[in-house]
Amino acid sequence: MTAKSTFYITTPIYYPNDKLHIGHAYTTVAADALARYKRQRGYDVMFLTGTDEHGQKIQKRAEEAGQPPLQYLDEIIAWIQDLWEKLDISYNDFIRTTESRHTEQVAAIFERLIEQDDIYLADYEGWYCTPCESFWSERELADGKCPDCGREVQWLTEQSYFFRMSKYVDRLLEFYEQNPQFIQPESRKNEMINNFIKPGLQDLCVSRTSFDWGIQVTRNPKHVVYVWLDALTNYITAIGYGSENQELQQQFQRYWPADVHFVGKEIVRFHTIYWPIILMALGLPLPKQVYGHGFLLMKDGKMSKSKGNVIDPKVLVQRYGSDAVRYFLLREIPFGQDGVFTPDAFMERLNYDLANDFGNLVHRTAAMVHKFAGGVLPKAGVLTKFEEELMELEQQTISNTEKSMDALQFSQALTSVWQLVRRVNKYIDETQPWALNKAGDTERLGTVLHVMVEMIRVSSILTTPFIPQTAEKIAKQFHFADTELTWDTLHEFGILGAGRDIDKANPLFPRLDVAEEIQLLAQNAGNGKEGTKMDETKMDGTGMEGAQIDRTKIDGAQIDGAKQQNKDGSDIKNEKQESDVPGKAQIGIDAFDAVELKVGQVKVCDKVKGADKLLRLEVDLGTEVRQIVSGIAKHYTPEELVGEKVIVVTNLKPVKLRGVESNGMILAASQGDSLKLATVPDTMPNGAVVK
Ligand code: MSP
Repeated sequence: MTAKSTFYITTPIYYPNDKLHIGHAYTTVAADALARYKRQRGYDVMFLTGTDEHGQKIQKRAEEAGQPPLQYLDEIIAWIQDLWEKLDISYNDFIRTTESRHTEQVAAIFERLIEQDDIYLADYEGWYCTPCESFWSERELADGKCPDCGREVQWLTEQSYFFRMSKYVDRLLEFYEQNPQFIQPESRKNEMINNFIKPGLQDLCVSRTSFDWGIQVTRNPKHVVYVWLDALTNYITAIGYGSENQELQQQFQRYWPADVHFVGKEIVRFHTIYWPIILMALGLPLPKQVYGHGFLLMKDGKMSKSKGNVIDPKVLVQRYGSDAVRYFLLREIPFGQDGVFTPDAFMERLNYDLANDFGNLVHRTAAMVHKFAGGVLPKAGVLTKFEEELMELEQQTISNTEKSMDALQFSQALTSVWQLVRRVNKYIDETQPWALNKAGDTERLGTVLHVMVEMIRVSSILTTPFIPQTAEKIAKQFHFADTELTWDTLHEFGILGAGRDIDKANPLFPRLDVAEEIQLLAQNAGNGKEGTKMDETKMDGTGMEGAQIDRTKIDGAQIDGAKQQNKDGSDIKNEKQESDVPGKAQIGIDAFDAVELKVGQVKVCDKVKGADKLLRLEVDLGTEVRQIVSGIAKHYTPEELVGEKVIVVTNLKPVKLRGVESNGMILAASQGDSLKLATVPDTMPNGAVVK
């Protein structure tokens, strides 16, 4: 038996000086998706993450907390590991730089580098930034402050150890030249060469005497190893570098060099200049790739405690589920570029992509198998042009997904899978299983239902790296065996045979009240501020219950702004949940009567500041003019709307969107990316009742 190919992927090891935020989760979720994908493709994967626990910043934090550093760290590490569990991060190992498997090797490496004369002792003077743990020369300062974080620097003189970086510059540039894939995206390579290497690479100060929370230099214990030299070596110590244990030695041989280090763009410098040079000095092969992804930003820029705009990933997971958060992060931001987290965008991905497209496909398919085939998967008969067309797209989707994943373009991969998902929904509308049932065409009906289930199987395999919990739920509901969910079976139409039971289940993704959620999310973004505790009663996961959202009502403003209720006060969506009729549940006339619809005319329309998707309208309802906020800015300009006659839901409770009060909802129909307002002829007077 030939050994499996290996794939070694790492995240940065995070500073546990505080809880992590959604930005840290971004890197780890991306690495997890790739690790899962590689496992699906048959690789023997080593996925490493961990924590970078030494340095002055951590020491200070522990002192402030009145705890010994390790005790202080243990609590935060437990919090971090719990976060990764909640986000379904499938790491194989978690390294803490305070573990002996790491500290002993770092001390030994340091000694060896001194002996080789790669590290030497000398006097050092320079500007030091404590939060960044970095020395800067006079010319590197920005207006006399730290060029990285903009904070005050202090002048320090100390005897220090230095690494002869300059000695390796030519070899490094040659390596870049010969390995064009090493720094990705490409633009970051030019930045490294032009900004850091060309101006002259200084020898790097690699020890500190101003504090003692670090790995001591064995021969000179008043020095502790510079935190970056300490941290970077985690990538080799974790997998057994230098160990005397034979198994660990073999493990190191098996996985090193790493296939890819995932890092944020701000630490590409450390990973593509210092790290390769350290490895060269140790005579080790260099990693195959360092991928410097972009930043997840908030509307007002970088996430920071002081701005109070930090999003706590646990709160999001608790309310919306791990898959929703994972999906959003990897779908919304093209890997490598910066992206902005906005509550609106988050909600849109949840309601449109997850609930409406994918969740609805799964729900209606199971419902139809129940209604038309007794809950048992029928066999596929003769295929027609409808199936052939669909399967052509399916095959393209598989190959596009593979290409995108291999290029680490997660967002592209998801875009292509969703094209297929939407196409399957269209296939159902085209083939109309309900009409086939009515006509008694059992064979054709069986084929269509079978193909629907097959497409769910394929979509589920393709989306597993991103939304693993959903894939698991689908496997349970459709009784897919593990052997029917491997990548190799993607091309095996017919593998499902016929006769298995398919369960009815609750919708996979919730029906969410957008306006309410947006408000809640906006509030939550401030929870990083000291003193403001998250409102657990509000973000308690109840948003996960309920049925599908009705896409035709998604105009961004008051989607379900007031939940419709039956006369007896019960929620209509509950009826729907229990219904096995594909599409919407039946309602009584009373429920419909509860909604007041009137003709209105748009008098004034403008954009809502800071919201790409929202328009503010003043609508004349005959007896009054109402202000309504509607999420249609992507489909209509304000100019186009003035004068239009529209249909307004007039008895919705008011809500505030981006601080602007909305007193109603305008009806619109939408399909895919297109959206059109429901209009009435100009001759109809404002205020006319619509029934
Ligand atoms: N301890 C060092 C890394 C040592 S690796 C040998 C460190 N830690 S950190 O806690 O500051 O984490 C930085 C990393 O977290 C970034 O490189 C990036 O991977 C991730 N991110 C932190 N904030 C982020 C965003 N707002 N957006 C995207 N990623 C972000 O640096």
